[in-house]
Amino acid sequence: MMKALGLEGIVATETALSLVDGERGELVYRGWRAKELASQYTFEEVVYLLWMGHLPNQEEADHFRQKWSQNRFLSFSLCQLLEGLPREMGMMDTLRTAVSSQAQGQGLWPPNKEDALAILAQVPSIIAYRYHFLQNSSLPKVRTDLSHTAYFLYLLYGKEPEPALARALDAYFILTVEHGLNASTFAARVVTSTRSDIYSSLTAAIGAMKGPLHGGAPSEVEGMLDQIGDISQATEWIRHRIIAGDKLMGFGHRIYKTNDPRAQALRNVAKELAGEEKRFRLALEVESIALDLLQELKPGRKIYTNVEYYASVVLSAVGLPTELYTPAFTASRIAGWCAHIFEQAEVDRIIRPQSEYIGPLPK
Ligand code: ACO
Repeated sequence: MMKALGLEGIVATETALSLVDGERGELVYRGWRAKELASQYTFEEVVYLLWMGHLPNQEEADHFRQKWSQNRFLSFSLCQLLEGLPREMGMMDTLRTAVSSQAQGQGLWPPNKEDALAILAQVPSIIAYRYHFLQNSSLPKVRTDLSHTAYFLYLLYGKEPEPALARALDAYFILTVEHGLNASTFAARVVTSTRSDIYSSLTAAIGAMKGPLHGGAPSEVEGMLDQIGDISQATEWIRHRIIAGDKLMGFGHRIYKTNDPRAQALRNVAKELAGEEKRFRLALEVESIALDLLQELKPGRKIYTNVEYYASVVLSAVGLPTELYTPAFTASRIAGWCAHIFEQAEVDRIIRPQSEYIGPLPK
Protein backbone atom coordinates (compact mmCIF):
# COMPACT_ATOMS: atom_id res chain seq x y z
CA MET A 1 0.00 0.00 0.00
CA MET A 2 1.24 3.49 -0.89
CA LYS A 3 2.15 5.80 1.97
CA ALA A 4 0.01 8.96 2.10
CA LEU A 5 2.84 11.45 2.52
CA GLY A 6 0.89 14.65 1.87
CA LEU A 7 4.11 16.76 2.00
CA GLU A 8 3.54 17.03 5.74
CA GLY A 9 6.19 19.14 7.46
CA ILE A 10 8.02 19.91 4.20
CA VAL A 11 9.13 23.53 3.76
CA ALA A 12 8.60 24.21 0.05
CA THR A 13 9.20 27.96 -0.01
CA GLU A 14 10.07 31.01 2.02
CA THR A 15 7.36 33.65 2.33
CA ALA A 16 7.07 37.09 3.89
CA LEU A 17 3.27 36.99 3.71
CA SER A 18 2.08 34.99 6.68
CA LEU A 19 3.22 32.97 9.64
CA VAL A 20 0.99 30.03 10.58
CA ASP A 21 2.19 28.94 14.01
CA GLY A 22 0.45 25.65 14.65
CA GLU A 23 1.92 25.12 18.11
CA ARG A 24 1.06 28.52 19.57
CA GLY A 25 -2.14 28.99 17.56
CA GLU A 26 -1.00 32.25 15.95
CA LEU A 27 -1.71 33.62 12.49
CA VAL A 28 0.34 36.67 11.47
CA TYR A 29 0.16 38.64 8.20
CA ARG A 30 3.36 40.60 7.55
CA GLY A 31 3.95 41.14 11.26
CA TRP A 32 0.31 41.80 12.23
CA ARG A 33 -1.92 39.34 14.07
CA ALA A 34 -4.83 38.41 11.77
CA LYS A 35 -7.39 38.57 14.59
CA GLU A 36 -6.29 42.12 15.47
CA LEU A 37 -6.43 43.17 11.83
CA ALA A 38 -9.94 41.70 11.68
CA SER A 39 -11.16 43.84 14.54
CA GLN A 40 -9.42 47.10 13.57
CA TYR A 41 -8.98 47.27 9.78
CA THR A 42 -10.95 46.77 6.59
CA PHE A 43 -10.51 43.98 4.06
CA GLU A 44 -9.21 46.50 1.52
CA GLU A 45 -6.52 47.70 3.94
CA VAL A 46 -5.45 44.13 4.69
CA VAL A 47 -5.19 43.30 0.98
CA TYR A 48 -3.07 46.41 0.57
CA LEU A 49 -0.85 45.19 3.42
CA LEU A 50 -0.41 41.79 1.75
CA TRP A 51 0.25 43.17 -1.74
CA MET A 52 2.32 46.25 -0.91
CA GLY A 53 4.03 45.18 2.33
CA HIS A 54 2.63 47.85 4.66
CA LEU A 55 -0.73 49.14 5.85
CA PRO A 56 -1.88 52.10 3.74
CA ASN A 57 -2.09 55.67 4.95
CA GLN A 58 -5.38 57.50 4.31
CA GLU A 59 -4.40 58.68 0.84
CA GLU A 60 -3.11 55.27 -0.24
CA ALA A 61 -6.23 53.57 1.15
CA ASP A 62 -8.58 55.96 -0.69
CA HIS A 63 -6.72 55.56 -3.96
CA PHE A 64 -6.65 51.75 -3.67
CA ARG A 65 -10.37 51.61 -2.81
CA GLN A 66 -11.21 53.85 -5.74
CA LYS A 67 -9.25 51.77 -8.26
CA TRP A 68 -10.76 48.62 -6.78
CA SER A 69 -14.37 49.75 -7.09
CA GLN A 70 -13.84 51.03 -10.64
CA ASN A 71 -13.14 47.44 -11.66
CA ARG A 72 -16.57 46.14 -10.68
CA PHE A 73 -18.13 46.16 -14.15
CA LEU A 74 -18.39 42.85 -16.01
CA SER A 75 -17.71 42.81 -19.74
CA PHE A 76 -20.49 41.87 -22.14
CA SER A 77 -18.63 38.71 -23.19
CA LEU A 78 -18.21 37.59 -19.57
CA CYS A 79 -21.95 38.09 -18.94
CA GLN A 80 -22.70 36.06 -22.05
CA LEU A 81 -20.42 33.30 -20.82
CA LEU A 82 -22.14 33.30 -17.41
CA GLU A 83 -25.53 32.93 -19.09
CA GLY A 84 -24.35 30.26 -21.50
CA LEU A 85 -22.91 27.76 -19.02
CA PRO A 86 -25.10 24.72 -18.21
CA ARG A 87 -27.65 25.59 -15.51
CA GLU A 88 -26.63 22.61 -13.40
CA MET A 89 -23.01 23.77 -13.25
CA GLY A 90 -22.06 24.61 -9.65
CA MET A 91 -20.89 28.06 -8.56
CA MET A 92 -17.27 27.02 -7.99
CA ASP A 93 -17.13 25.49 -11.48
CA THR A 94 -18.68 28.67 -12.86
CA LEU A 95 -16.17 30.83 -11.04
CA ARG A 96 -13.24 28.70 -12.19
CA THR A 97 -14.44 28.91 -15.80
CA ALA A 98 -15.10 32.67 -15.60
CA VAL A 99 -11.66 33.41 -14.16
CA SER A 100 -10.00 31.14 -16.71
CA SER A 101 -11.81 32.93 -19.55
CA GLN A 102 -10.08 36.21 -18.66
CA ALA A 103 -6.67 34.96 -19.81
CA GLN A 104 -6.58 36.77 -23.12
CA GLY A 105 -3.82 38.35 -25.11
CA GLN A 106 -0.09 38.51 -24.71
CA GLY A 107 2.24 40.00 -22.15
CA LEU A 108 0.72 38.27 -19.13
CA TRP A 109 4.13 37.62 -17.53
CA PRO A 110 5.14 38.78 -14.99
CA PRO A 111 1.78 38.99 -13.17
CA ASN A 112 0.78 42.55 -12.33
CA LYS A 113 -1.36 44.20 -9.69
CA GLU A 114 -3.76 45.84 -12.19
CA ASP A 115 -4.88 42.45 -13.54
CA ALA A 116 -5.06 41.05 -10.01
CA LEU A 117 -7.19 43.95 -8.76
CA ALA A 118 -9.53 43.64 -11.73
CA ILE A 119 -10.22 39.98 -11.12
CA LEU A 120 -10.44 40.43 -7.32
CA ALA A 121 -12.99 43.24 -7.76
CA GLN A 122 -15.04 41.20 -10.22
CA VAL A 123 -15.41 37.98 -8.25
CA PRO A 124 -18.47 39.15 -6.24
CA SER A 125 -20.03 40.43 -9.48
CA ILE A 126 -19.41 37.11 -11.24
CA ILE A 127 -20.98 35.16 -8.36
CA ALA A 128 -23.95 37.53 -8.07
CA TYR A 129 -24.53 37.72 -11.83
CA ARG A 130 -24.77 33.96 -12.12
CA TYR A 131 -26.82 33.70 -8.92
CA HIS A 132 -29.43 36.17 -10.22
CA PHE A 133 -29.41 34.64 -13.68
CA LEU A 134 -30.30 31.22 -12.21
CA GLN A 135 -33.00 32.77 -9.99
CA ASN A 136 -34.45 34.76 -12.92
CA SER A 137 -33.87 37.93 -10.95
CA SER A 138 -31.75 40.88 -11.98
CA LEU A 139 -28.40 42.10 -10.76
CA PRO A 140 -28.65 45.47 -8.98
CA LYS A 141 -26.90 48.48 -10.51
CA VAL A 142 -23.15 48.77 -10.05
CA ARG A 143 -22.17 50.95 -7.08
CA THR A 144 -18.71 52.20 -6.35
CA ASP A 145 -19.31 53.66 -2.90
CA LEU A 146 -19.56 50.38 -0.97
CA SER A 147 -16.76 48.29 0.54
CA HIS A 148 -15.94 44.94 -1.09
CA THR A 149 -17.95 42.93 1.40
CA ALA A 150 -20.88 45.37 1.66
CA TYR A 151 -21.00 45.38 -2.15
CA PHE A 152 -21.08 41.58 -2.25
CA LEU A 153 -24.13 41.53 0.05
CA TYR A 154 -25.74 44.43 -1.82
CA LEU A 155 -25.34 42.58 -5.13
CA LEU A 156 -26.96 39.43 -3.74
CA TYR A 157 -29.88 41.06 -1.90
CA GLY A 158 -30.42 44.22 -3.90
CA LYS A 159 -30.21 46.53 -0.90
CA GLU A 160 -27.45 47.99 1.19
CA PRO A 161 -26.69 45.58 4.06
CA GLU A 162 -26.92 46.43 7.75
CA PRO A 163 -23.47 47.71 8.81
CA ALA A 164 -23.15 44.89 11.37
CA LEU A 165 -23.59 42.26 8.65
CA ALA A 166 -21.06 43.88 6.31
CA ARG A 167 -18.63 44.22 9.21
CA ALA A 168 -19.02 40.53 10.14
CA LEU A 169 -18.38 39.48 6.55
CA ASP A 170 -15.38 41.81 6.43
CA ALA A 171 -13.94 40.12 9.53
CA TYR A 172 -14.52 36.72 7.91
CA PHE A 173 -12.76 37.89 4.72
CA ILE A 174 -9.78 39.23 6.69
CA LEU A 175 -9.45 36.03 8.71
CA THR A 176 -9.52 33.82 5.62
CA VAL A 177 -7.60 35.90 3.08
CA GLU A 178 -4.22 34.28 3.66
CA HIS A 179 -2.90 31.11 5.25
CA GLY A 180 0.58 30.07 4.25
CA LEU A 181 1.06 27.18 1.89
CA ASN A 182 -2.41 25.65 2.02
CA ALA A 183 -3.45 23.38 -0.89
CA SER A 184 -4.98 26.08 -3.12
CA THR A 185 -2.14 28.56 -2.54
CA PHE A 186 0.41 25.87 -3.28
CA ALA A 187 -1.45 25.04 -6.51
CA ALA A 188 -1.32 28.74 -7.50
CA ARG A 189 2.41 28.93 -6.76
CA VAL A 190 3.21 25.74 -8.69
CA VAL A 191 1.49 27.12 -11.79
CA THR A 192 3.14 30.55 -11.39
CA SER A 193 6.53 28.86 -11.02
CA THR A 194 6.24 27.71 -14.66
CA ARG A 195 5.85 31.39 -15.72
CA SER A 196 2.26 30.73 -16.70
CA ASP A 197 -0.20 33.63 -16.37
CA ILE A 198 -2.11 34.79 -13.27
CA TYR A 199 -5.45 33.50 -14.62
CA SER A 200 -4.07 29.96 -14.97
CA SER A 201 -2.69 30.13 -11.42
CA LEU A 202 -6.02 31.35 -10.04
CA THR A 203 -7.93 28.74 -12.04
CA ALA A 204 -5.80 25.98 -10.49
CA ALA A 205 -6.27 27.48 -7.03
CA ILE A 206 -10.06 27.63 -7.40
CA GLY A 207 -10.05 23.97 -8.46
CA ALA A 208 -8.17 23.05 -5.26
CA MET A 209 -10.35 25.29 -3.11
CA LYS A 210 -13.49 23.47 -4.24
CA GLY A 211 -12.55 20.18 -2.55
CA PRO A 212 -14.48 19.24 0.62
CA LEU A 213 -11.24 18.76 2.59
CA HIS A 214 -10.29 22.39 1.90
CA GLY A 215 -12.70 25.20 1.00
CA GLY A 216 -15.73 22.99 0.61
CA ALA A 217 -15.94 22.37 4.36
CA PRO A 218 -18.26 25.20 5.58
CA SER A 219 -21.25 23.97 3.62
CA GLU A 220 -20.46 20.46 4.86
CA VAL A 221 -20.48 21.84 8.43
CA GLU A 222 -23.91 23.29 7.71
CA GLY A 223 -25.03 19.85 6.49
CA MET A 224 -23.61 18.21 9.61
CA LEU A 225 -25.46 20.60 11.93
CA ASP A 226 -28.65 20.03 9.90
CA GLN A 227 -28.27 16.28 10.21
CA ILE A 228 -27.65 16.46 13.94
CA GLY A 229 -30.72 18.72 14.14
CA ASP A 230 -31.16 18.63 17.89
CA ILE A 231 -28.57 18.62 20.61
CA SER A 232 -30.08 15.45 22.13
CA GLN A 233 -28.91 13.57 19.02
CA ALA A 234 -25.39 15.00 18.96
CA THR A 235 -23.41 12.55 21.09
CA GLU A 236 -24.71 9.45 19.35
CA TRP A 237 -24.39 10.99 15.86
CA ILE A 238 -20.83 12.17 16.38
CA ARG A 239 -19.65 9.01 18.12
CA HIS A 240 -21.03 6.90 15.29
CA ARG A 241 -19.26 9.05 12.67
CA ILE A 242 -15.87 8.97 14.34
CA ILE A 243 -16.04 5.22 14.92
CA ALA A 244 -17.04 4.73 11.26
CA GLY A 245 -13.82 6.57 10.30
CA ASP A 246 -15.60 9.66 8.93
CA LYS A 247 -14.10 13.12 9.33
CA LEU A 248 -16.12 15.66 11.27
CA MET A 249 -16.31 18.72 9.07
CA GLY A 250 -14.88 21.88 10.59
CA PHE A 251 -12.51 19.92 12.84
CA GLY A 252 -8.83 19.08 12.45
CA HIS A 253 -6.01 20.88 10.69
CA ARG A 254 -2.71 19.89 9.18
CA ILE A 255 -0.81 22.70 10.91
CA TYR A 256 -2.80 23.75 13.99
CA LYS A 257 -2.26 21.31 16.83
CA THR A 258 -3.95 23.72 19.19
CA ASN A 259 -6.89 26.13 18.75
CA ASP A 260 -7.10 27.64 15.28
CA PRO A 261 -6.97 31.40 16.04
CA ARG A 262 -9.36 32.07 13.15
CA ALA A 263 -11.95 29.72 14.63
CA GLN A 264 -11.77 31.56 17.95
CA ALA A 265 -12.06 34.98 16.31
CA LEU A 266 -14.97 33.81 14.15
CA ARG A 267 -16.70 32.32 17.17
CA ASN A 268 -16.70 35.84 18.66
CA VAL A 269 -17.99 37.34 15.40
CA ALA A 270 -20.73 34.68 15.30
CA LYS A 271 -21.62 35.35 18.93
CA GLU A 272 -22.01 39.08 18.31
CA LEU A 273 -24.12 38.49 15.25
CA ALA A 274 -26.19 35.48 16.21
CA GLY A 275 -25.51 34.89 19.91
CA GLU A 276 -29.20 34.42 20.66
CA GLU A 277 -29.97 32.19 17.71
CA LYS A 278 -30.65 28.49 18.05
CA ARG A 279 -28.09 27.73 15.35
CA PHE A 280 -25.25 29.37 17.24
CA ARG A 281 -26.15 27.57 20.48
CA LEU A 282 -26.34 24.25 18.61
CA ALA A 283 -22.91 24.92 17.06
CA LEU A 284 -21.42 25.71 20.48
CA GLU A 285 -22.80 22.55 22.06
CA VAL A 286 -21.85 20.33 19.13
CA GLU A 287 -18.33 21.74 19.29
CA SER A 288 -17.98 20.92 22.95
CA ILE A 289 -19.37 17.36 22.55
CA ALA A 290 -17.24 16.72 19.46
CA LEU A 291 -14.03 17.90 21.15
CA ASP A 292 -14.67 15.56 24.10
CA LEU A 293 -15.42 12.60 21.83
CA LEU A 294 -12.41 13.29 19.61
CA GLN A 295 -10.22 13.29 22.69
CA GLU A 296 -11.74 9.98 23.82
CA LEU A 297 -11.77 8.21 20.43
CA LYS A 298 -8.74 9.83 18.75
CA PRO A 299 -6.43 10.36 21.72
CA GLY A 300 -3.23 12.29 21.06
CA ARG A 301 -4.31 13.54 17.60
CA LYS A 302 -4.79 17.13 18.83
CA ILE A 303 -7.94 17.85 16.84
CA TYR A 304 -9.61 21.23 17.37
CA THR A 305 -12.23 23.28 15.60
CA ASN A 306 -10.92 24.86 12.39
CA VAL A 307 -11.86 28.12 10.64
CA GLU A 308 -14.61 26.46 8.62
CA TYR A 309 -16.70 25.53 11.64
CA TYR A 310 -17.78 29.02 12.74
CA ALA A 311 -17.49 30.32 9.18
CA SER A 312 -20.64 28.36 8.47
CA VAL A 313 -22.46 30.10 11.36
CA VAL A 314 -21.25 33.57 10.32
CA LEU A 315 -22.06 33.05 6.64
CA SER A 316 -25.51 31.74 7.50
CA ALA A 317 -26.12 34.70 9.86
CA VAL A 318 -25.23 37.21 7.12
CA GLY A 319 -27.84 35.45 4.98
CA LEU A 320 -25.67 33.69 2.42
CA PRO A 321 -27.22 30.60 0.83
CA THR A 322 -25.18 27.46 1.54
CA GLU A 323 -24.08 27.05 -2.07
CA LEU A 324 -22.29 30.40 -1.83
CA TYR A 325 -20.14 29.56 1.21
CA THR A 326 -17.14 28.25 -0.73
CA PRO A 327 -17.46 30.96 -3.42
CA ALA A 328 -17.44 33.56 -0.59
CA PHE A 329 -14.29 31.97 0.82
CA THR A 330 -12.81 32.17 -2.69
CA ALA A 331 -13.77 35.86 -2.99
CA SER A 332 -11.54 36.52 0.00
CA ARG A 333 -8.70 34.00 -0.51
CA ILE A 334 -8.17 35.10 -4.11
CA ALA A 335 -6.41 38.19 -2.73
CA GLY A 336 -4.04 35.94 -0.76
CA TRP A 337 -3.40 33.79 -3.85
CA CYS A 338 -2.49 36.94 -5.80
CA ALA A 339 0.00 37.97 -3.10
CA HIS A 340 1.64 34.53 -3.39
CA ILE A 341 1.62 34.73 -7.18
CA PHE A 342 3.56 38.04 -7.01
CA GLU A 343 5.99 36.54 -4.50
CA GLN A 344 6.51 33.37 -6.54
CA ALA A 345 7.05 35.38 -9.73
CA GLU A 346 9.89 37.22 -7.97
CA VAL A 347 11.49 33.97 -6.86
CA ASP A 348 11.13 32.75 -10.45
CA ARG A 349 12.23 29.15 -9.97
CA ILE A 350 10.15 26.20 -11.12
CA ILE A 351 8.65 24.05 -8.34
CA ARG A 352 9.48 20.49 -9.18
CA PRO A 353 9.67 17.99 -6.29
CA GLN A 354 10.52 14.32 -6.65
CA SER A 355 8.57 11.13 -6.22
CA GLU A 356 9.85 7.85 -4.90
CA TYR A 357 9.20 5.05 -7.38
CA ILE A 358 7.73 1.97 -5.72
CA GLY A 359 6.59 0.09 -8.85
CA PRO A 360 8.32 -2.86 -10.53
CA LEU A 361 11.63 -2.43 -12.36
CA PRO A 362 12.06 -3.73 -15.92
CA LYS A 363 13.33 -7.31 -16.08
N1 ACO B 1 -12.76 14.21 12.31
C1 ACO B 1 -12.38 13.02 12.83
N2 ACO B 1 -11.10 12.59 12.84
C2 ACO B 1 -10.18 13.40 12.32
C3 ACO B 1 -10.49 14.66 11.78
C4 ACO B 1 -11.84 15.05 11.79
N3 ACO B 1 -12.22 16.23 11.28
N4 ACO B 1 -9.37 15.26 11.32
C5 ACO B 1 -8.37 14.40 11.58
N5 ACO B 1 -8.86 13.27 12.17
C6 ACO B 1 -8.10 12.09 12.61
C7 ACO B 1 -7.85 11.18 11.42
O1 ACO B 1 -8.90 10.23 11.27
C8 ACO B 1 -6.55 10.55 11.80
O2 ACO B 1 -6.81 9.53 12.73
P1 ACO B 1 -5.95 8.14 12.71
O3 ACO B 1 -4.61 8.53 13.25
O4 ACO B 1 -6.74 7.24 13.60
O5 ACO B 1 -5.90 7.68 11.28
C9 ACO B 1 -5.79 11.66 12.53
O6 ACO B 1 -6.81 12.51 13.05
C10 ACO B 1 -4.89 12.46 11.62
O7 ACO B 1 -5.68 12.93 10.53
P2 ACO B 1 -5.17 13.19 9.07
O8 ACO B 1 -6.31 12.98 8.12
O9 ACO B 1 -3.90 12.43 8.83
O10 ACO B 1 -4.82 14.73 9.15
P3 ACO B 1 -4.43 15.64 7.94
O11 ACO B 1 -3.45 16.60 8.43
O12 ACO B 1 -4.09 14.83 6.74
O13 ACO B 1 -5.85 16.34 7.58
C11 ACO B 1 -7.63 17.83 7.42
C12 ACO B 1 -6.19 17.64 7.89
C13 ACO B 1 -7.75 17.49 5.91
C14 ACO B 1 -8.07 19.29 7.60
C15 ACO B 1 -8.55 16.88 8.24
O14 ACO B 1 -8.46 17.23 9.61
C16 ACO B 1 -9.99 16.91 7.76
O15 ACO B 1 -10.32 16.23 6.79
N6 ACO B 1 -10.88 17.71 8.44
C17 ACO B 1 -12.25 17.81 8.03
C18 ACO B 1 -12.40 18.73 6.81
C19 ACO B 1 -12.23 20.18 7.16
O16 ACO B 1 -12.78 20.70 8.12
N7 ACO B 1 -11.46 20.88 6.31
C20 ACO B 1 -11.17 22.32 6.45
C21 ACO B 1 -9.74 22.54 6.83
S1 ACO B 1 -9.37 24.25 7.04
C22 ACO B 1 -9.19 24.83 5.48
O17 ACO B 1 -8.85 24.13 4.57
C23 ACO B 1 -9.46 26.24 5.24
